[in-house]
Amino acid sequence: MTEAIPAASPRVFSGVQPSGALHLGNYLGALVKFVALQHQMECLYCVVDLHAITAWQDPKQLAAQTREIAAAYFAAGVDPAKAIVFAQSAVPEHAELAWIFNCVARLGWLDRMIQFKEKSGKHKERSSVGLYTYPVLQAADILLYKATHVPVGEDQKQHLELTRDIAAKFNHDFDAEGFFPLTEALIEGPGARVMSLRDGLAKMSKSDPSDQSRINLTDDADAIAGKIRRAKTDPLPLSDSLEDLKARPEADNLVGIYAALSGETKAQVLATYGGQGFGQSFKPALADLLVERLSPVSAEMRRLLADPAEIDRTLAAGALRARAIAGPILAQTKAKVGFVGAA
Ligand code: AMP
Ligand code: TRP
Repeated sequence: MTEAIPAASPRVFSGVQPSGALHLGNYLGALVKFVALQHQMECLYCVVDLHAITAWQDPKQLAAQTREIAAAYFAAGVDPAKAIVFAQSAVPEHAELAWIFNCVARLGWLDRMIQFKEKSGKHKERSSVGLYTYPVLQAADILLYKATHVPVGEDQKQHLELTRDIAAKFNHDFDAEGFFPLTEALIEGPGARVMSLRDGLAKMSKSDPSDQSRINLTDDADAIAGKIRRAKTDPLPLSDSLEDLKARPEADNLVGIYAALSGETKAQVLATYGGQGFGQSFKPALADLLVERLSPVSAEMRRLLADPAEIDRTLAAGALRARAIAGPILAQTKAKVGFVGAA
């Protein structure tokens, strides 16, 4: 059997679902962090197509959407020579570990998952069983590589807590202290929770029926400028105190987006634009900044997507590298469970 990978060696894992177009929340909450981390630790970035099919995906679209997420990773700056980038379904070990974890996680734990409640809505009994057990597959994604750090937006906090609960229960039940790490979520940062442009209390989301609520990674300069011009604000001018933003969610969100993109603090943004009406110079400057940052990304995505076979080759090479790590960890896990012929 291959040498065990020390549980404590730092390793990053994260994933994005190929279930629709990416938006500014995905970019700031996830992609920007992916790029920064690849210079610091070993990183695996997955396109989680097994997760995507927990809700209906048109088979004709799924492959295209998978390539689109991969292209977005690369266009944002993820380097496939450094980070391991692959499609989840190409590494069957994910589903196998998820089954074992289905038998570790408790129903009561899953009953508390907010995202399931949000996504299943009023018709829980008509949701797929996969949607219910989705967070267990997510724990398997992470622990299959004994990943120690997971960069995600704030909405994934509860799933990361569940991942730790599953790791701890597995380690305890199978007398394997320290076998799976207690993975840390990397959530902090100004882009951890980007809100809708139409409602400062709702998160920016691909499932929002209004396209005006979000900036898509593929929006052109005119679309971005129009959406920012129409972004909901209140009638007061931007103030120069951070305290004042707390009660003004739409203003807070726009200032937060500006800060995340420019690398400034919100206080610095207010020092420049405070005291003026939103339309005077803040909104135009924000639109310019968004175009400056996002248009090279969408241009590069278009370039990469013109050659889908090359994306498929890169993903296939990534899957091989991922399996080389996953295989031994799954084999050790199966041996701990008591499966004959495992390790
Ligand atoms: P999803 O598109 O749901 O697969 O999410 C992909 C990544 O983007 C995850 O890390 C999410 O936490 C993150 N994310 C999604 N929406 C937002 C948002 N509005 N603000 C910040 N991060 C987000
Ligand atoms: N649930 C995550 C989301 O909706 C996607 C995801 C699946 C993920 N597996 C993961 C994120 C593992 C981080 C690590 O955004």
